Amino acid sequence: MSLSPAQKTTLRRLALAALILGHFGFFILAVGVVGLYRAGQLPPPPQPIAFPHPTHVLGLGLACNFCHETVEQARGAGVPPVEKCLTCHRQIARERPEVQKLLRYWDEQQPISWVRIHQLPEFIYFSHKRHVKAGVGCDSCHGPVAVMTEVRQVRTLNMGFCVGCHVKSGASRDCAICHQ
Ligand code: HEC
Ligand code: HEC
Ligand code: HEC
Ligand code: HEC
Ligand code: HEC
Repeated sequence: MSLSPAQKTTLRRLALAALILGHFGFFILAVGVVGLYRAGQLPPPPQPIAFPHPTHVLGLGLACNFCHETVEQARGAGVPPVEKCLTCHRQIARERPEVQKLLRYWDEQQPISWVRIHQLPEFIYFSHKRHVKAGVGCDSCHGPVAVMTEVRQVRTLNMGFCVGCHVKSGASRDCAICHQ
């Protein structure tokens, strides 16, 4: 089949229109997804390894700060290096597919690129240390992680959420503590 120049032009225009529509369609979808995600209404993002908190926290009784080592000392809680997992998985459950993935990261000396779930905008100052030292439980901001097979965000983490608790608990509401 051969096309006339006019047909070719039409086809090109159609292709262009599809591209543009596709482009904005994706944009609209992305904004919607981010919006929903921020509202904590979406399922958790897929992780490189299906790490189950319940098995480790409820089953083995590991403390949160066994893995999130800096939660009492720094702004960030920290996510454990592969090495920490290997203290047990050098021996335990080596045959399981998800643990095999873990061992592969170890063999290749690659860090695991866990997908970040909770993330404040750049311009916000937040520190775990202050909250944990003041006795604010992980659950208040993260929900019941111990029973989540897959971690997901369940609180909005917007300004109203932060300030709401600060009002209730008598903590500072000065704009400058969070907006530095
Ligand atoms: C054996 C190690 C281990 C223990 C113990 C552990 N975690 Fe985790 N945690 C991880 C790993 C690995 C990830 C990243 C993968 C994921 O999100 O599932 C993670 C992710 C998280 C996240 C999401 C981080 C983000 O990207 O926003 C939160 C919140 C969290 N853990 C809270 C807790 C709490 C609360 C406890 C105690 C009840 C706990 N964890 C105990 C290993 C652990
Ligand atoms: C204190 C020991 C210990 C540490 C540390 C540990 N695990 Fe585990 N893990 C276990 C045990 C025990 C099981 C349960 C095995 C079973 O079901 O028989 C398990 C189960 C798992 C499973 C589920 C296997 C399956 O298919 O049921 C995965 C995945 C896993 N661990 C990944 C990790 C990762 C990733 C880390 C590091 C962030 C880690 N583990 C740290 C002891 C540990
Ligand atoms: C007052 C609210 C609050 C409390 C309490 C809290 N977190 Fe967080 N957590 C956050 C926020 C907000 C973020 C995102 C921080 C950012 O983007 O800078 C976060 C991020 C994280 C992360 C992602 C990785 C990182 O390095 O920050 C982990 C893991 C985590 N929290 C674990 C915990 C654990 C474990 C506890 C309890 C010991 C805890 N959090 C208590 C609000 C809280
Ligand atoms: C569940 C209650 C609770 C929530 C939610 C909460 N906070 Fe706090 N926050 C506190 C308490 C209590 C203190 C006081 C700690 C102290 O006295 O050292 C505090 C202290 C702080 C401080 C240090 C204040 C100072 O005087 O230097 C900052 C910064 C802060 N919070 C930011 C945030 C941000 C940002 C969020 C939201 C992502 C948030 N907080 C959510 C309870 C909360
Ligand atoms: C306890 C922490 C906290 C305090 C105190 C606080 N904010 Fe915020 N603020 C946040 C967080 C977290 C965000 C980002 C999430 C959001 O947009 O809700 C934010 C977002 C904002 C934004 C939107 C910025 C943007 O570009 O999206 C404005 C404007 C703002 N705050 C003004 C203020 C003013 C004015 C005060 C003092 C009266 C104040 N904030 C006090 C935590 C705080």
